[in-house]
Amino acid sequence: MVCNNFTGGENRVLNPVYCMDIESLLNDAPAMYKVDSMDMFGALSGLPEQCKDAWKIGMDSPAPEAETISNVLVTGMGGSAIGGDLLRAYASGKMAVPVAVNRDYTLSQYADKSTLVIAVSYSGNTEETLSVYEQARKRECTIAVITTGGKLKESADKDGVPVIKIPGGLAPRAATGYLFIPALAVMQKLGLLKNVEDEIKELEDELEKIKKNITPESALEHNAAKQLAREFYGRIPVIWGAAGTTGVAAQRYKGQVNENAKAPAYWNVFPELNHNELVGFEVPRDLLEKLHIVMLKDKGDHERIKTRMEITRGIAARSVSGVTEISSSGEGLLARMYTLIYVGDYASVYLAVLYDIDPGPVKIIDYLKSELAGR
Ligand code: F6R
Repeated sequence: MVCNNFTGGENRVLNPVYCMDIESLLNDAPAMYKVDSMDMFGALSGLPEQCKDAWKIGMDSPAPEAETISNVLVTGMGGSAIGGDLLRAYASGKMAVPVAVNRDYTLSQYADKSTLVIAVSYSGNTEETLSVYEQARKRECTIAVITTGGKLKESADKDGVPVIKIPGGLAPRAATGYLFIPALAVMQKLGLLKNVEDEIKELEDELEKIKKNITPESALEHNAAKQLAREFYGRIPVIWGAAGTTGVAAQRYKGQVNENAKAPAYWNVFPELNHNELVGFEVPRDLLEKLHIVMLKDKGDHERIKTRMEITRGIAARSVSGVTEISSSGEGLLARMYTLIYVGDYASVYLAVLYDIDPGPVKIIDYLKSELAGR
């Protein structure tokens, strides 16, 4: 369908697919649900409950036993790996041992018997993760597996490796609670973290609190996720977080725009971006005008980073279409990271709707995996 009076990216008034003002579309929940064949909106709405359930599953499942753990390595890809980044960010101020995230076929050389390897794959069939799992077995690492099943579960069952079995039926990126929170339970059982349940409870409460304002039923004027999708529409999102606090959320925003809206997006972190990326905001001007920057803010950001953000905003605003700031809410770092992610997750699904893209299927990933399997 072509809308005669669509004016394209200029004033972005009408969406050519729906012949509808994009603001009216963002306020039409039934129309938005129609595009969402895999019920990504439903999965998002269930996130607080998923987090609660994930903690219970983690605590009720077997955990590895180990006398000494000197480092933790989470291995996984895509939606299964982001939980590793969350763990790394969360653990860096709380755990005495370092956490690394491995997104590759190869296990880092330092990994040995004192390394706890957490192999995470929603499907249980991701070849990079299966490859690292096998190497971890050979190196006699302590291993835990988080999966719904697949070859990973088969191998772990055969090898006597503890499996945290999570519910299937979701897109992996809609299952971050299940893919991440059981790892926290493993940390607690191994004595590497304490009192995590208090933060899980706060996380559920904070997510419930902000959910009311970001669901399809909540009007655009009060809905930060819809407002963000409106800014992203027809533009390229660039998401900036801070190393150690909101960087992982920035990375997540990028991945969710890619996988849900099937659109490009880029991310970076302060302070590093002040030493290179920011210099590249002079030319080409017509393309820079197509960027929309999001700055993710957290009360735990270093004071100097707060100052950097303020100055940087002024510089970037001269050449891009606009800059939006989003602040985390909650007390604990877990709630703060996830509240930011929740807004971005919803925004990416709204953006898909605006482009008339079904947010659920990721045909390109499926195609790549099937091509690889045949070679
Ligand atoms: C799809 C998604 C992907 C997968 C990735 C790894 O929703 O998020 O990024 O997570 O292709 O697959 P799994 O999670 O099955 O190991």
